[in-house]
Amino acid sequence: METAVGETRVAASPETVKKFIALGCRVVLERGAGQTSGFLDEAYAEAGAQLVTPGDSQAWGEADVLLCVQSPSPVDLGRLRRGALVVGLLAPYANIELDAALKRCGLSAMALELLPRISRAQSADALSSQANIAGYKSVLLASAALDRYFPMLMTAAGTVQPARVVVLGAGVAGLQAVATARRLGAVVYVSDIRPAVKEQVESLGARFIDPPEMEDKPAESGGYAKQASDAFLAAQRQQLSDQLSEADVAICTAQVPGRRAPRLISEDMLDRMRPGAVVVDLAVAQGGNCADTLPSQTVDRKGVKLIGANDLPCSVPNHASFLYSKNLLALLQPTLKDGQLNLDLEDELIAGCLISQDGTIRRSDVLTPGAN
Ligand code: NAI
Repeated sequence: METAVGETRVAASPETVKKFIALGCRVVLERGAGQTSGFLDEAYAEAGAQLVTPGDSQAWGEADVLLCVQSPSPVDLGRLRRGALVVGLLAPYANIELDAALKRCGLSAMALELLPRISRAQSADALSSQANIAGYKSVLLASAALDRYFPMLMTAAGTVQPARVVVLGAGVAGLQAVATARRLGAVVYVSDIRPAVKEQVESLGARFIDPPEMEDKPAESGGYAKQASDAFLAAQRQQLSDQLSEADVAICTAQVPGRRAPRLISEDMLDRMRPGAVVVDLAVAQGGNCADTLPSQTVDRKGVKLIGANDLPCSVPNHASFLYSKNLLALLQPTLKDGQLNLDLEDELIAGCLISQDGTIRRSDVLTPGAN
């Protein structure tokens, strides 16, 4: 059962329980684990899971694999047997506490954040399944908070112009935000530093704001943006300032893995936005793309609503859990034979996300960067 504050998702659905059992596994589930995501104990029992009281020490001590959404606390990790495997969104970046717990308890661990973004990994890609939900929900939140319509409407009383939405960052969440805002009838502008996304943005009917023409353009690796220089970000803010002064909504999704999110909206830029406008900052937990946003809070700043949206997948827990559970199944299925787990370290997917093996840290570059 997830214990992190605000976590409503669960790492197995009745459907995936059934599939794991068909693969020869025994599945044990803490009672009530699926309650907040709409999966009832009866459905899990019917699928073949054995239900136990939350915290059942025998179940924890006997498990070979622990499926989770977020990492259990170090104390809870200590209840697993040495050599057990933990699989989840473990927030591995510079996570000294996790590093220490994995070593101390002799655990193996797979952090889904580190799964390589290659075609073969798509069905297991939990960052994508959850970011898609965040992008969708961010626009619904913005439309509910906005003091205007999204679509253009011609009514007897007069014509209403469509809302103007600026999306910062066109990764998985950003593109879903674009598609959702377009479906609601908004005019959408998009900024990203990877020129490759221009075509995707335009195919969704949005307009791409070309990144500033500068010599020290941020590089790209593995489809991800690398950190931009301060000078580049200053030029980008300059460019976005006029766009935002005319915007009704800004959806902020720009991120650089393992780094602080780029600051793209400054106090000065907020001062130029009209009262009634809405900013939804999905990068708030990584420091925020926008000044003054706070995690899980809505701040009224001179009439501009700033929504710190760090946990949007938890607000759509049924589908978030449904998809996340399938991601876990897709990742583990090839490693299971007759219920036995066999991790192939030559496999790019496993090698990428296996941060620890029996307590030996394999990705100290991620968990404790700069420590060596
Ligand atoms: P992310 O959440 O790390 O970043 C979101 C977006 O922010 C990225 O598009 C990035 O370029 C952008 N960004 C960074 N700095 C910015 C700045 N200063 N201004 C504006 N935008 C900025 O990325 P996400 O959504 O996890 O995916 C990144 C890429 O990974 C995808 O677009 C795709 O190319 C690749 N991918 C590949 C998959 C596969 O083949 N299995 C699955 C999912 C994604």
